[in-house]
Amino acid sequence: MSKIAILELDGQRYELPVVVGTENERAVDISDLRAKTGYITLDDGYGNTGSCSSAVTFIDGEQGILRYRGIPIEELAEKSTFIETAYLLIYGHLPTHGELRRFSDLLTQNENIHEDMKHHFEGFPPNAHPMAILSAMINASSCFYPGLMGAANKSRFDIHAARLISQVRTIAAFAYRKSRGLPVIYPKPVYKYTANFLHMMFSDVYQEYELKPEVVRALDLIFLLHADHEQNCSTSTVRMVASSQANLFASAAAGVCALWGPLHGGANQAVIEMLQSIHNSGDDGSRFITQAKDKNSGKRLMGFGHRVYKNYDPRAKIIKKACDAILNLLNISDPLLDIAKKLEETALRDPYFIERKLYPNVDFYSGIIMRAIGIPIEMFTVIFAIGRMPGWIANFKEILDDPKSRIYRPRQIYVGPTLNSYIPIDQRSATR
Ligand code: ACO
Repeated sequence: MSKIAILELDGQRYELPVVVGTENERAVDISDLRAKTGYITLDDGYGNTGSCSSAVTFIDGEQGILRYRGIPIEELAEKSTFIETAYLLIYGHLPTHGELRRFSDLLTQNENIHEDMKHHFEGFPPNAHPMAILSAMINASSCFYPGLMGAANKSRFDIHAARLISQVRTIAAFAYRKSRGLPVIYPKPVYKYTANFLHMMFSDVYQEYELKPEVVRALDLIFLLHADHEQNCSTSTVRMVASSQANLFASAAAGVCALWGPLHGGANQAVIEMLQSIHNSGDDGSRFITQAKDKNSGKRLMGFGHRVYKNYDPRAKIIKKACDAILNLLNISDPLLDIAKKLEETALRDPYFIERKLYPNVDFYSGIIMRAIGIPIEMFTVIFAIGRMPGWIANFKEILDDPKSRIYRPRQIYVGPTLNSYIPIDQRSATR
């Protein structure tokens, strides 16, 4: 029998349906609440709001569980690749040999950006943040594919999706090369996805970058671990934009902007900056922990805490292990890793962090791996964006495929001035 919730309001009794997900998460369906009662719900920051039903990713934040299409992240990290996982997220099942080959071919055939787009890079100042360039260039790409709008969103979805996954990597590498005053390096069809990105980033016209399989695998793992994460800030932004029937590239460009902020994807850059400043100040982390607990200090322990995880972020566990392995392999000893470990150890024993259930998140160790493989700090959030693209596309597709999809349009509780009149300018007194 289906459950209902009872609401008593202004002396009236209302029945609200209860929705149960496949993993037994429960929600009270309030979609008719305003029509029936005149009330809306208020949930600042959406901490308790289910904005949609989705079949892509499952998270249990209390237990530290993350699954893409039902498959635990630990299994995918061990057995899959970023591109196979991208297929899984977008199409809902693991690909057969044939499906994976077709998908890979589509990525290779679409890896080059339109040659004219190269000129757009000239317009950015050399110190422009690559996230600004990435977002602008993804949006600009839509001008080069006029068939992207309206119904074509649907009929040519496969090619648009492959184009976006493949080209975001090319745009990112070109942005980096331009910012350093280096000539761009074109993708090489013989290389697989992640190897190709490293080639475009680090090869020179006169000398090919030496691809170490362990480095390729470490970066591929970072992409895979970032590939989706349910209704976070950037994915919700992509869905919000997509709900207006904007095209895939425009929706993804908006996602990049949302991801840029230091409370979201920008945290991986902020973590390294924090570790570096702790190191430069001669602190071993102890002083910083005290500051992070003091609300007036304006400091937070970056890479710690999560809106959903009230337990160890499962991605952080995988990354921490990979971080030790790659540093050992490359024979690098990084003082920032020592500080990170000390911070983690201290925070996990400190009542402030224990009571608030603050644990390391995915960003805490990912920056140290990226540093070790030579990715510059300003590119960290870009790497996150490349990784997150399949998740954004999978969420875009859910909206595209849903015949009942409606434009996203939250409401608000207005707390501004009540009705008052326009005062002519010469009769106004200065109030500020
Ligand atoms: N350091 C110190 N205190 C913290 C931290 C932190 N990193 N994170 C949360 N807190 C404290 C808050 O001050 C608050 O304390 P209070 O209850 O005494 O007021 C309490 O913990 C709850 O924090 P909120 O900000 O309300 O939690 P929210 O769910 O809104 O924010 C967020 C989550 C943004 C991730 C937060 O933990 C944070 O700022 N972390 C650092 C930035 C970061 O690592 N972001 C990456 C997130 S993962 C991702 O996007 C991939």
